[in-house]
Amino acid sequence: MAIDENRFLADLHALREFGAAGVGKGVTRPAYSQADIAARRWLATRMQEAGLQPHFDPVGNLFGLAQEPSLLMGSHSDSQPEGGWLDGALGVIAALEVARASDRPISVVSFQDEEGRFGVTTGSAIWSGGLNLSQADSLTDHAGVTLGAARASMRDLARGFVDPGQFTGFIEMHIEQGPSLDESGDLIGVVTDIVGIRDMVISFEGQQNHAGTTPMHLRRDAFQALSLFNAEINTRFRNVVTPQTVWTIGHVEVHPNASSIVPGRARFSMQWRDSDPDRLLRMEEIIRKTAQDIADRLEMGLAFGPMLGLEPVSMDRALQAKLEVGAQRVAPGKWRSMPSGALHDATNIAKLMPAAMLFVPSIKGISHDFAEDTLEKDLIAGLHALVIAVNG
Ligand code: GLV
Ligand code: MN
Ligand code: MN
Repeated sequence: MAIDENRFLADLHALREFGAAGVGKGVTRPAYSQADIAARRWLATRMQEAGLQPHFDPVGNLFGLAQEPSLLMGSHSDSQPEGGWLDGALGVIAALEVARASDRPISVVSFQDEEGRFGVTTGSAIWSGGLNLSQADSLTDHAGVTLGAARASMRDLARGFVDPGQFTGFIEMHIEQGPSLDESGDLIGVVTDIVGIRDMVISFEGQQNHAGTTPMHLRRDAFQALSLFNAEINTRFRNVVTPQTVWTIGHVEVHPNASSIVPGRARFSMQWRDSDPDRLLRMEEIIRKTAQDIADRLEMGLAFGPMLGLEPVSMDRALQAKLEVGAQRVAPGKWRSMPSGALHDATNIAKLMPAAMLFVPSIKGISHDFAEDTLEKDLIAGLHALVIAVNG
């Protein structure tokens, strides 16, 4: 059967309806939310209609299994709290369409919690053995819900873990989520490597007090500690980082978050990414030392949460070569090899089997935002390159 471009686009738009939010094509579909579980049930039906055997594992990863042995394709269908319609969803729906159209057996997967409500690429990290399930169960989201409690909401669907031995390799299609392809005018990126990441929660504990009566010199204001920390690491990182290194404080909780109260606690996420594990380690040392120096100076309590992370990985060379053939056929001279600055399930799956990724452009490089989008003709070009790569 040939690729059906209209069916592929219709399925992508249908998936966006689960958790549709914001302007344009925005989506709010965090892992284990009602919208996420409803989307997974819908995907299971689409897999069945495509002749695949749907299978939910204990963490909510959804597989559509072909006969053995097969090539595994897919990505994730959970989203960021404010996300777009393509991040993850594109790879899952493209895999479904390739499975329908390919002469070769293709299994499809939608991994759970790639977006890290609880960990970093949680579902594929657990499936690949990188994260221990019983330890992962005690990871909490920003509201204090544990992964163990969240995954219990899918208990009625869950069966055992799928044996990875039945898959010959893994291919994930994804939007680039950055500006490179959009700026160069290239239509396709073949991924060479994926960066490494570290992610940790840090808390400063001071003294909550009255904002009108507490003299400035007597305050132990936790927000002031966070603010100093941020300024200080930007300076102390200077001799360690490269222009490709990134770091983000993306989630901040100031307690009790009231205008007339000196904040007693500041709890925040600290995330950093780079392609060199040694640099990631040096940055960790700077982060811990800076936080300790500031805690000592401002008389703060200091706590570090569990350190989560993934190592940088290279994509499989032979699978890259297949994707290059597809890219060159569909977009002669208008594709490039490139690293990924975003994290992907492929990082974990590369531990289990040969893994590779294909990117299509993100308009203006925007992602993790309701405004994320890609021209539909570019989505279709990527899909054709994928099917050529798979069918040879
Ligand atoms: C994945 O969504 C990432 O944060 O790179
Ligand atoms: Mn993604
Ligand atoms: Mn994402």
